[in-house]
Amino acid sequence: MEIHNDRHIYSDNPAVAAAFAEWLVNWLKGRSRTTIALSGGSTPKLLFQVLAKQYADQIDWSGIHLFWGDERCVSPDHADSNFGMTKALLLDHIDIPAANIHRVLGEEDPASEAVRYGQEILSTVSAVDGLPAFDLIILGMGGDGHTASIFPHEMHLLQDAAICAVATHPESGQNRITINGPVLNHAYQVAFLVTGASKAEKVQIILGKQAGHEAYPAAHIKPAGGITYWFLDEAAASLLS
Ligand code: 6PG
Repeated sequence: MEIHNDRHIYSDNPAVAAAFAEWLVNWLKGRSRTTIALSGGSTPKLLFQVLAKQYADQIDWSGIHLFWGDERCVSPDHADSNFGMTKALLLDHIDIPAANIHRVLGEEDPASEAVRYGQEILSTVSAVDGLPAFDLIILGMGGDGHTASIFPHEMHLLQDAAICAVATHPESGQNRITINGPVLNHAYQVAFLVTGASKAEKVQIILGKQAGHEAYPAAHIKPAGGITYWFLDEAAASLLS
């Protein structure tokens, strides 16, 4: 299936956050039950703040189930925790049932947690052809072209049949729990939020399908719905023709 990369380019990260928040609120309109996997890292912080400050009461969170596309294997109160960051910037400011928040237990044994989290996803996210199909997965992209916690040195996770796996950060060696490629690509919608000049080279190679783009995990995200939304700032999009 030909994948259409739908590009949305804005001046800077605050503009990307504002635009994506508006897109998300409109996309949620009329939906009664929605499953969303969130990205971690620094890019979504502004988005979470915008959602908390401007849209907290405009979204019916009671039907929204939040997951994480990946999580660092640390406790939720650790500075590296994607859940901890999301809790501080968003979850503590919205009226969402605790049962709708599906965090990775980063403090547990990684191998066991990868299995447990996969089961939690399977029991909550509707399956299509036996695989959980998220309504939306929000992804970031590292400067090395990784996405979720699928890094270039662990490309096999793009095909791993398990829902989740234990990944390893290439520099720090930190264990991560990641949703694997088949489930990422089984989502109805995928939206990349990518900002900053450090991402520009990989954005150009991946969106331009240039030589060697297959070496980067983010190039292999081809959602079932057929559309990958790219919300970029001008710095990250600066090399695009
Ligand atoms: C994580 C993320 C990861 C992130 C990219 C981009 O746990 O770090 O899920 O995939 O999206 O590394 O990170 P920044 O947004 O910090 O550039």
